[in-house]
Amino acid sequence: MFLRNYWYVAAFDREVAEAPLARKILGEAIVFWRARDGAVVAMQDRCPHRRAPLSMGKVLDGERLQCLYHGMEFDRAGACARIPGQADIPPAMRAKTYPVVVRYRWVWVWMGDPAAADPSQIPEFPWLESPDWGAKGDLFHVKASWTLIVDNLLDLTHLATVHATTIGNAAIAEKAETRVERTEKGLVMRRWVIDAPAPPTYVKAGGFTANIDRWQFIDFTPPAFLRLHVGGVPTGTGAPDRLEGGIHMRNLNAITPETETTTHYFWAQAHDFQPRNEAVTDLVFSQVKTAFLEDVAIFEAQQRVIDNDRGPPEVDVRADAAQIQARRILERLEAGERSSRREAAQ
Ligand code: FES
Ligand SMILES: [Fe+2]
Repeated sequence: MFLRNYWYVAAFDREVAEAPLARKILGEAIVFWRARDGAVVAMQDRCPHRRAPLSMGKVLDGERLQCLYHGMEFDRAGACARIPGQADIPPAMRAKTYPVVVRYRWVWVWMGDPAAADPSQIPEFPWLESPDWGAKGDLFHVKASWTLIVDNLLDLTHLATVHATTIGNAAIAEKAETRVERTEKGLVMRRWVIDAPAPPTYVKAGGFTANIDRWQFIDFTPPAFLRLHVGGVPTGTGAPDRLEGGIHMRNLNAITPETETTTHYFWAQAHDFQPRNEAVTDLVFSQVKTAFLEDVAIFEAQQRVIDNDRGPPEVDVRADAAQIQARRILERLEAGERSSRREAAQ
């Protein structure tokens, strides 16, 4: 299941240079390249002539992508600009292009009807560029469905068992109060753990020596953006009414399906304490990366089980409340896209 009428993160801005970058998004092979004026171009990675991948070719004069196979050239709008040895160009000799926006140091691609591409619909990730925040991110290629990653980020009880050496401890599962609320597009899941020991990463980053009040506010925006506001303050300093002092972080996730069972997982961690201190940014990043690689091992193992599964349906527990609501939201959106595609076809 893919939702098409959305912006997806396709690449880090820095990944797209003049040399073409091939990347599959929602099952479609796309080639990204950089034009001379800095614009990023996204085209179907398929030459209309004999279907060679255009990503095997090269960019000429910063303006045209030349197919390696027979040398035809395509401009940034996908029009064929030259056929070696032939002056007239068949009208159908065009490469499909996709709307692209560069924002928050990511390249965003619109996978739906190009007429509906509205950059104001891109979810906000200001922490990635703000001078008041330190931030560092990465991209994981995950051999699992994007939906397993959404599930994971909406149920953080797994921190207690999977991430006990970094961001988790028993309190996160045993001692938490949670609440799920709908937002305009998705939902927010709020979790509080009051008066509990700080997990190892919080001790390293925040220097806590006594119990803390810890929060995780998870904003889920379809199809697969999860922006977590997390942090902790010393117990007895006013939480949950006030969130002053302590440490505040944003865990930022943009999950892009590659295929039904593989995913480009873009994520970053931002922190508001010592934002310009690179050693702090690296510490926070490496702690979260350690934890996220533990998650990736689980997603890929789950996918292997699911691929061969003949068992009964999954069994839910109370901690799954946010996941279940998110799945319902996604199912509704998917049914909506399906019925508009049917109407358009009639
Ligand atoms: S296949 Fe691309 S020019 Fe022939
Ligand atoms: Fe995790």
